[in-house]
Amino acid sequence: MMTKPKILVTSAAGNTGIPTTLQLLEKGYPVRALVRRDDHRTQRLRDAGAEIFIGDQYSINDMRRAMDGVRRAYHCAPTAPNGLHFGTVFTIAAQEARLEHVVLLGQWLSDPNHPAVLTRETWLNEEVLGLLPDTTLTVNNVGWFAANYFMVLEPVAQLGIFPMPLGDGDVKKDAPPSNEDIAAVNVAALADPAAHAGKVYRPTGPELLSPNEIATILGKALGRRVKYQDISEAMLLKALKVQGFPEAMPTQLRLYTDEYRRGAFAIHAPNNVVRELTGREPETFEAIARRTVRTHPDAVRTFSNKLKAMGNFMRILLTANIDPDAVELRRDHVLLESPAFVQDSRTWRERHDPDAGYIPDTPEPLARKMTA
Ligand SMILES: NC(=O)c1ccc[n+]([C@@H]2O[C@H](COP(=O)([O-])OP(=O)(O)OC[C@H]3O[C@@H](n4cnc5c(N)ncnc54)[C@H](OP(=O)(O)O)[C@@H]3O)[C@@H](O)[C@H]2O)c1
Repeated sequence: MMTKPKILVTSAAGNTGIPTTLQLLEKGYPVRALVRRDDHRTQRLRDAGAEIFIGDQYSINDMRRAMDGVRRAYHCAPTAPNGLHFGTVFTIAAQEARLEHVVLLGQWLSDPNHPAVLTRETWLNEEVLGLLPDTTLTVNNVGWFAANYFMVLEPVAQLGIFPMPLGDGDVKKDAPPSNEDIAAVNVAALADPAAHAGKVYRPTGPELLSPNEIATILGKALGRRVKYQDISEAMLLKALKVQGFPEAMPTQLRLYTDEYRRGAFAIHAPNNVVRELTGREPETFEAIARRTVRTHPDAVRTFSNKLKAMGNFMRILLTANIDPDAVELRRDHVLLESPAFVQDSRTWRERHDPDAGYIPDTPEPLARKMTA
C-alpha cells in the first residue's frame, strides 16, 4: 500500500490552520502542525493525531526543520507585520526541501498596485513561490472570512449592536465563507496536486449578504434582536488598538473595510468553487453563526459579560484617535505613488477569475448588481 505524503500546515492553530489540519488527518494524511505555542488548540491537534512542531515562522532554521521529511504544505502567513519575511522564509525552505506541492493562503484583493502594503506583500509572496522549479502551487485567494464578523461578537451578543464600518446596511456586499470551507478547498488541492497545480481559487459562501442581513442572522443565532451600526474608520482603528493589534496592522485592515464598502468582495460572488472542489454546498452564514455562538465565550449572556462589554465600549470611546497616515510614515511602510483599489486596477480585474467569464469592464455593472 502506498503511504500518503506528509503535509506541513503553518499557522496550524489559526482560523484556517485548525480545520485544514483536522480534515487532512481525517483523510489519513500524516500532518506536521507548525504552531507558535503549546496550548489547548495545540492539544486538540495533537489529540487528533497531528505531529506538533513549535516554532517561529520568521525563523529560517525553524522552517527548515519543520519541512524535514515533508512532501506538501499549506502555507498561511499570520496576520502580522513583515509578511514578506514570512513568505521568503517559507519559499527558501520549500525550495531546499524540494516540496512537490504548496497551497498558499493569499487574498481576494491580491494585487501589485494595492494601497495596502500587506496585500502587495501577499502578491509578491505568491509570485515568488510560483517561481520554484520543483514545486507546484495552488493559491487560495479567499475574500472576507465569515470569522471576521465574530471579532465583534461581544457587543453583538451582550449589547445587541453589530458595529463595523461596512457602509450602507442594505447593500449586499459579501458572501462570507466558513473556515471549514476555506480548509476544504486547501485539502482538495493538497490531496490532488495534479488537478489543482497552477490554479487560483476564490472560495465564497453560498449567498451575498448585506450588513443588515448579517445582523439579523447573528440575532437569530443568539436569540435576540441585533442592529447593524455603521461605525467610522476612526472608531475601527481605536477598537483594533484596544483589541491589541500591533500598530502596523490597523492601517492595513482599514483599507480592507474600504474595499468592502466599495463592493470588492461582491465581484463574482457567490461562486461555485467550494461545490466544485468538495462536491457539497458551502456552509450558510446562519449555520456558521449558530455553530460559533454555541461555543464562543463572548456569546454567553450574563450580567457580568454585559458590564464587561460596556466597559470595553467605553475604553474604545476614550482611546485617542489614531492617524493611519502618520503611522504608515512613522513605520516607513513602502508607499506607492498611484495605488489602486481593486476595481480600478486593470491587473486585478484581468486576473479575477477570467475562467468564470465575469470581468467587469467598468464598476457600473457591479453597482447595478449590488442594488438590484
Ligand atoms: N481574515 C480575512 O478575512 C482574510 C481574508 C483573506 C486572507 N486572509 C489571510 O489569512 C491569513 C491568516 O489566516 P488565519 O486567519 O487562518 O490565521 P490566524 O487565525 O491569524 O492564525 C495565525 C496563527 O499564526 C500564529 N503566529 C503568529 N505569529 C507567528 C510566528 N511568528 N511564528 C509562528 N506562528 C505565528 C498565531 O499564533 P497565536 O494564536 O499564538 O497568536 C496564530 O495561531 C493572513 O495571511 C491574512 O492575510 C485573511
